[in-house]
Amino acid sequence: MRRAVCPGSFDPIHKGHLEIIERASKLYDVVHVAVLINRNKQGMFTVEERIGLIEEVTVPFGNVVVESHHGLLVDYCRDRGIPAIIKGLRAVSDFDYELQMAQMNHGLTGVETLFLPTSPTYSFLSSTLVKEVASYGGDVSHLLPETVHRRLVDRIAERKAEQ
Ligand code: PNS
Repeated sequence: MRRAVCPGSFDPIHKGHLEIIERASKLYDVVHVAVLINRNKQGMFTVEERIGLIEEVTVPFGNVVVESHHGLLVDYCRDRGIPAIIKGLRAVSDFDYELQMAQMNHGLTGVETLFLPTSPTYSFLSSTLVKEVASYGGDVSHLLPETVHRRLVDRIAERKAEQ
């Protein structure tokens, strides 16, 4: 079985992420989507909610496993015999930090990082921007899978009602 991992925060998953996962799923027998837990970051969605959303929208690919992980990505890869990390590159500005992480990860355990160029349609897209625009009432429906968009709009409304 040829395995690869698409890691990230996925708070929430957007169409740019999904496009990379779909392309990875055509290259590998099994694609793991690892939701990395950062306890210092308060998310819009809980890790369990993020996993549920990713599972729902990746079902059509047929070979995607979604899990959370607290700790180093290289440990996740080593524990599961995953030799490759797949990352989407949106723009040159992504490259510096991604290269740094790829070199660090390779130095730690020998795990390889492969970069896929993001579709130009989504090269500006990030979960942070989507949340910001949506929280001010902007339309981000074309940037998220339908179910994720619905949940985001609901969550923002819940948060506003609590304030
Ligand atoms: O979606 P993000 O937040 O850009 O993803 C970044 C992520 C989670 C892939 C990266 O921060 C990561 O790999 N975190 C796990 C902890 C780790 O291994 N840190 C060392 C990186 S060299």
